[in-house]
Amino acid sequence: MDIELVVVRGPEDAAATAAALLTEVARARGAIALAGGSTPRRAYELAAGALTDWGGASLWFGDERCVPADDPRSNQRLVAEALLRRLTVAPAVHPVPTQLTPGEAASAYDALLQGVGLDLALLGLGLDGHTASLFPHAPSLRVRDRLAVAAAPGLDPFVERVTLTIPALAAAAHVVFLAVGADKADAARRAFAEPPSEATPASLVRAGAGTTTVVLDEAAAVLLG
Ligand code: 6PG
Repeated sequence: MDIELVVVRGPEDAAATAAALLTEVARARGAIALAGGSTPRRAYELAAGALTDWGGASLWFGDERCVPADDPRSNQRLVAEALLRRLTVAPAVHPVPTQLTPGEAASAYDALLQGVGLDLALLGLGLDGHTASLFPHAPSLRVRDRLAVAAAPGLDPFVERVTLTIPALAAAAHVVFLAVGADKADAARRAFAEPPSEATPASLVRAGAGTTTVVLDEAAAVLLG
């Protein structure tokens, strides 16, 4: 499956590009799976600045660290701070129930996701080529009968995770990767310009019937030719 590569000048341009994609789906009252980590924070801030009424939309998490919702490592906290607190009308938010054990939380999230048609799945890219909490060579990469699974710690922060699976992400109408900075250039090359490999989980995630867009700044795209 080919990808739509969007290379923009710098991180702010990449955040603005992702924000526009998010607000388009939010305006249409769609279902969005959000990425964690640090890169999407600015995109969420810009999206909230562009659209404050997210009524009717629904937010899910592509992955979550198994920590309390107010923990600085929580993706739910990231989304609350960068997006939700800036809105006048909130979407329906479906956090991963991290008060449960990782296995229980994954099973509960899997059940919640049944029948949900994701309109957009926003994903980041780790230095090792992971995405969501799908880590290199992890058993989760071969799961085909679940939409969410527990994931052992793969990198900092070294906490248990819950992640959407490849089939869950591939079912999204639009998969959007967002990565910026020179440190992501090699992972971007392996994820988007090399054959799919379990060494680079992001290379295995593409929208099955939909569109896969890769938003990079020039620094992250430098090895893509
Ligand atoms: C997470 C994210 C993860 C992230 C990458 C990139 O929960 O950690 O979902 O997949 O997108 O690790 O993280 P940065 O944006 O911080 O580089």
